[in-house]
Amino acid sequence: MEQLITEAVGVLKRGGLVALPTETVYGLGADAENELAVRHIFAVKRRPASHPLIVHVASARHAKAWARELPVHFDALARAFWPGPLTLVVWRSDRASDAVTGGQDTVALRVPDHPLALELLEAFGGGVAAPSANRFGRVSPTTAEHVRAELGADVDLVLDGGPCAVGVESTIVDLTGAEPRILRPGGVSREDLVRVLGRPVRLGADGADVRAPGMLASHYAPRAGVLVVTPAQLYAEAERRQTEGLRVAALAPRSVAVPAAVHRADMPEDAAGFARELYGALRRLDAEGFDLVVTALPDEHGLGLAVKDRLLKAAAPRT
Ligand code: TXA
Ligand code: MG
Repeated sequence: MEQLITEAVGVLKRGGLVALPTETVYGLGADAENELAVRHIFAVKRRPASHPLIVHVASARHAKAWARELPVHFDALARAFWPGPLTLVVWRSDRASDAVTGGQDTVALRVPDHPLALELLEAFGGGVAAPSANRFGRVSPTTAEHVRAELGADVDLVLDGGPCAVGVESTIVDLTGAEPRILRPGGVSREDLVRVLGRPVRLGADGADVRAPGMLASHYAPRAGVLVVTPAQLYAEAERRQTEGLRVAALAPRSVAVPAAVHRADMPEDAAGFARELYGALRRLDAEGFDLVVTALPDEHGLGLAVKDRLLKAAAPRT
């Protein structure tokens, strides 16, 4: 393992790309201070340059070098949730280039909670810019196999850290406004943020500026169409679409009724389990050639909010 980490550090130092496991999803990493390497990430992902990247660091102490000033809630959130599935948006220092931030005056920072990622970040010392290791707009990878299948030879090295424990991306909290706001729900629940901050936390950007691709309508999308319904509607909707001639799969917990003729992809009843298995299930259904995934939303508690966000974006009209 030590040898692999040394190799990965070498790749980063040479300006190459390393796919790394995190507790949320796999990331496509490059030296955040190497502009060419960062541009290469955008090319491989086919991602518009205006969509900024998250800089991953080994600890809150490392994170501070990337911030010009520390917002009031920074320490409390970092202490409560790092390492972990929380990304904090702060005013950037000179270290954060336009290539990483998409020209914005802010930078997104995160300390991931995965032993391999932490070992790599510690050994590398600097920041690793890493979006999810998928092509722009597609489903994020939660195993090393997903990364290899999607990006193949475009990545210099894939670190295999097993399946991701959380399964959906980090919660992004913007700390540069008058109050903290959730830009993207994710692995840290809104309830936990409220508990630590001792105040309500609003969801959504302050203003109309759509900077995060996770905030565009269509995102996290499989090849198959996605139709989101209530648990009570699922049976009839799945049956109707199948009768219309589509190959339909029902993605839902066991407690939800599914017609016998429709393929059922069982999901855990609890939101955390649903989140963990969601992207793998969507990839599997794509591989099996289904035309339409009909799915019922879990309720919004805990990770349910992130699952709802991803499913609604997967279901949005594609461009
Ligand atoms: O869990 C995660 O966050 C994963 C793992 C690899 O850490 N990463 C991830 O990266 O989901 P990506 O690039 O797929 O999504 C990062 C999101 C994007 O929506 C991006 O626009 C937003 O973070 N973002 C990055 N910098 C930002 C900034 N300065 N202000 C607002 N949003 C920002
Ligand atoms: Mg992504």
